Amino acid sequence: MPYYRRAGEVPPKRHTQFRQPDGGLYAEELMGQEGFSADSALLYHRYLPTAIVAAEAVDRPAPARTPNLPLKPRHFATHKLDVAGADAVLDRQQLLANDDIRLSYVLADRPSPLYRNAIGDECLYVEAGSARIESTFGDLPVNAGDYVIIPTSVIYRVLPVDGPVRLLTVEATGHIGPPKRYLSARGQFLEHAPYCERDLRGPAEPRPVDGTDVEVYVQHKSRANGPGRTGTAWTRLVYANHPFDVVGWDGCLYPWAFSIHDFEPITGRLHQPPPVHQTFEGPNFVICSFVPRKVDYHPLAIPVPYNHHNVDSDEVLFYTGGNYEARRGSGIQQGSISLHPSGFTHGPQPGAVERAIGVESFDELAVMVDTFRPLDLGAAALSCEDSGYAWTWAGRSLPPPSGGAAAAYPGSARR
Ligand SMILES: [Fe+2]
Repeated sequence: MPYYRRAGEVPPKRHTQFRQPDGGLYAEELMGQEGFSADSALLYHRYLPTAIVAAEAVDRPAPARTPNLPLKPRHFATHKLDVAGADAVLDRQQLLANDDIRLSYVLADRPSPLYRNAIGDECLYVEAGSARIESTFGDLPVNAGDYVIIPTSVIYRVLPVDGPVRLLTVEATGHIGPPKRYLSARGQFLEHAPYCERDLRGPAEPRPVDGTDVEVYVQHKSRANGPGRTGTAWTRLVYANHPFDVVGWDGCLYPWAFSIHDFEPITGRLHQPPPVHQTFEGPNFVICSFVPRKVDYHPLAIPVPYNHHNVDSDEVLFYTGGNYEARRGSGIQQGSISLHPSGFTHGPQPGAVERAIGVESFDELAVMVDTFRPLDLGAAALSCEDSGYAWTWAGRSLPPPSGGAAAAYPGSARR
């Protein structure tokens, strides 16, 4: 995050003696990206952040992944995955994944354990409910519509507040941030950016917590889950003292939140392309926000998206509010996720174009994740799939009996 923040007590000069009330030294920790040549933060701990008393492998096999074969558009009804007693870390249900990104969904109604993702940054999107993101940097309250960026290896936990919280979680294999094209050479948001520094929230003040022998679940890269694939493995570390023992920090690496409701949509006389909705970028993927807006006002405008083929990326759309005009009649509902893979042209459902003509504004709210490598399907996705979705553009709910269409085409036997 290019935006410098400071919270709590830090010494006037970094890397100098900084003493506690009892005369002992605070323990300085530098968290740094890209080999300490990019964003970083300095944290001042009451105890050694290095002091662990136990380390054990946790048996959490990597979720199974199934290729999207046959290739087709897919619809997943995530609310069908709801289970009681879930937490927002260990009970995430993986829906879609490739070696760059893992997309999961969870309805969490209890606090998560302390957790560190050492593989990459995370983006948590709050579909519904409220939560408190507690971390070594302090507390960050979040509500429906909030994106929360958790930098790699930040120890945090998620506490639902006043009831369960619904989250779409994006786990990257690198860093997530604002698109570089929105920032000046020195990292300031430029005037054409659809949001700016004023829209961003960070943890207020660190809130030191007492405790000893405190467990932290660490997700990390490992060959444990087979060669070639980006294997993930889990280790349970037990810290001698509670990791939330920070009295102050400063820098450009910290958890931060941004509300989709602060995304200022860019509209025009004619339909604007998907990149104007871009909100974040990560390694081999982008995240975009579709928010309520006035729509295309050319006298002959067609406000819903034209049919389109994203030849270089898979498109995932998470429908998180309002009425998504282009999808009316397809079975898409609150919390639905559609996957429109590269190799397939998609567009408005039948009749949506005609219905949209003359409409002045849309109230849709959706989060889109485009990945530059194909996505596999997780078991959770297959368990809540609406199998008729692919045929809805043809106005059908089921494919023809197997072999029907092929039988109709004389040459099919040769394939
Ligand atoms: Fe699309």
